[in-house]
Parts: sequence; C-alpha cells; structure tokens
Amino acid sequence: MSDQGDHPKGDATRVVTAGRRPEWTQGIVNPPVWRASTILYDSVAEMRAAGGRDTHHRLFYGRRGTPTQWSLADALTELEPGAEATFLYPSGVAAIAAALLSVLSPGDELLLPDTAYDPTRSMATGLLKRMGIATRFYDPLIGPGIADMIGDKTRAVFMESPGSLTFEVQDVPAIVAAAKARDVVTLLDNTWATPLFFPAIAHGIDLSILACTKYVVGHSDVMLGSVTAAPGHFAKLRDTSFQLGQIASPDDCWLGSRGLRTMAIRLAQHQSSALKIAHWLKQQPEVATVLHPMLHDCPGHEIFARDFKGSSGLFSFILDGGDEAARAALIDGLEHFGIGYSWGGFESLALPVDPARYRTATKRRDAGPMVRLQIGLEDPDDLIADLAAGLGRFRAARR
Ligand SMILES: Cc1ncc(COP(=O)(O)O)c(C=O)c1O
Repeated sequence: MSDQGDHPKGDATRVVTAGRRPEWTQGIVNPPVWRASTILYDSVAEMRAAGGRDTHHRLFYGRRGTPTQWSLADALTELEPGAEATFLYPSGVAAIAAALLSVLSPGDELLLPDTAYDPTRSMATGLLKRMGIATRFYDPLIGPGIADMIGDKTRAVFMESPGSLTFEVQDVPAIVAAAKARDVVTLLDNTWATPLFFPAIAHGIDLSILACTKYVVGHSDVMLGSVTAAPGHFAKLRDTSFQLGQIASPDDCWLGSRGLRTMAIRLAQHQSSALKIAHWLKQQPEVATVLHPMLHDCPGHEIFARDFKGSSGLFSFILDGGDEAARAALIDGLEHFGIGYSWGGFESLALPVDPARYRTATKRRDAGPMVRLQIGLEDPDDLIADLAAGLGRFRAARR
C-alpha cells in the first residue's frame, strides 16, 4: 500500500503504471523487448526444476513468454478489478477461439448474440460445428429472457456489447445472473468499451476478451488479442492456449504496452469527438438514425447509461433512402476517412456495412444503407466538414 492509503488509482494512472515491474523493466521506462526461443540452464537439475505445467512468470521456453509478454498481460489484468490473470494472443480472433475452446467440448451448446463480430459467427458455424458444438443465436436485447434459452447442454453464453455494426447494448448483469444460476460460463467481447469504460470481470463476466489490435495498440500497426479471466477460469484458459501453441510475439506485445500508456487519454478524445460528430449527424436530413450507445435512438441506451463509464469512437449511421451507389458516393470522396477494416487507431475510417446479411435471430428494416465510422484523433470539425460534403454527394446521387 502506498502512502496514499486506500486512494484508488484513476484510469489514466493505471494505464501508465500497470505491469511495469522493476524486475522486468530493469530501470527502462517501458518494458523492453525480450526475444527468445531457447532459454539456457546451468544444469540438468535446474532445467528440470524450471519446467512443469505452470511456468507463470518464469523463463522456460520462448513459447511460454518473456517479461515483455508478462508485463502486458499483467497490465491488462490490473485494469480489470477482480481478475485472476490474462493470456495474450496474436489477434483478437485467436483470443476468441482460445476462450471458446477453453470452455466448450463436443456435445455442448453455445449461445451467441446475433450481433457478434462476423468472424466469431463463422467460428461457431464452422470450426465449433465441426467439433460437435452447437450454437444458437439470440437477440442481443434478450436481457433476463436468456434464462429461457439456457438448456441442459448450454455450456457458455457469449456476449458482445455494444454489438458489431449496430451497437445494441446488452444487459450483461441480467445475462450473467441467469447464466450463473445454471452454472454456465460467460464470455464478453469487450473490445469497444475496454476495461476502462466497462470493467467486465467486476460485472461478473468469467472471460473478458479484447481485440488489443484496436484501442490497446491504438496505432493500426499490430495484431494482438487478450483474454482476462475471473478467478477459477485462468488455469483452463492457460492450458488450452498452451496446447494450441498460442504465443503473441514480444515485439507486438512491446508495441501493445507502448500503446496502452496513452489509451486513457486517446479514449477520452475518441469519446468526445465521436459524440460531437454523432450529435451533428443526428441533425442532418440525409441521416435517418444514428446508432451510438450514448444516443437515445440506440437500442439498449438505458442499459448503457446504467452500466458504462464512457463511450469510444466507433458507431454507425443509417442513411435516409439511397442505394449502394449513393452510399459509395458519400464514402469514396471523403478526405479524412480511410476506407478499410478494423478500428481503434488514431485515424478515422468509414466503412459501408450491411448487417442484415449476417443476422439470423433478428430482422432489420432500415431506412437506407448503413455506414460505420471510426472517429480518430483528427480535429472533429474537419471530420464534420468532410462528412457534410459527403452527405452532399449522397444527396445528389440519391435523386
Ligand atoms: C468486436 C471485434 N472483436 C474482435 C475483433 C477481431 O480482432 P482482430 O482483428 O485482432 O482479430 C474485431 C476486429 O475487427 C472486432 O471488431
């Protein structure tokens, strides 16, 4: 305990200090890159003593990590009050796969929200199905009604809140309560909010997943994922991940640690710029709906207001009428928004999205095509001017 007694550290402080153990940094401010495959021992006896299933924070073999990976994993655990430990992966999708495989066996059933990130859906309907694991998709707004879907074979309920592309906010506490009552494991893709805006483990989630590729890295130049486990869930996650041969590279983890140090301040700016732009878009006659959890129009907004500490930089809007060509006219001419996948970096992106194509448990009837925006760290007024010109092109093309 520091001389500040029980004073809890603020988020901005925690992202700066987390994981920087002196024995790993050796005085260097951010933990340096420790690259390794072979670790050398002084004797056979020492080598035998180093091994075993749990080599946590002990150099053993490169695939079990070095202080560079341990430091980032430790930092992410520190950001999730109540968590036991974190395992890192070479992408967000790899993290989702390991988390699901650590809890599911042939014959089990998984409940997946209709708004899950599309590759998560593909994993369920492809790999998991092939392994004899069934998936049922549910309405993300089901809330306590999830209890009626939990059957004898249900082993896990996956959540993603807000959901991909359409940002429905899930009633995580209600779903967790229903799952716990039936001894069912809960997993959350918490990439959008990060633990800073939604401390998932404190809300009862068993396995909290981040595509660190987004806000942790923050610079659109690294693929990385993490799973943070509640007490009692880490050993199985670690064993499964070891058996899958998962290891995130030390260079990527170093960049992840470097990104993490500024995550709180970046998120604050993403939040304020995205909100400014979302409010502006809502006033535009070409826009039918803005799907941002902070706005009343967004399904689950009241749950968002109850549970979340902030909002990040990704949201969608639905155009009023128009077709594919009119939407492309809007997006193609944008000066400050790149056209590309992913999000969470310092630069803005605009993406045409068509959620109705993927959904099976819910139906959408939108007024027009949808655009997803990642609001970066540019001046929001420049982004608004750019979007205003884009809506002008849309108006001309819609006629
Ligand atoms: C919500 C969500 N989860 C997971 C992922 C996967 O992360 P990665 O691209 O690092 O595999 C993404 C990527 O876009 C995502 O949007």
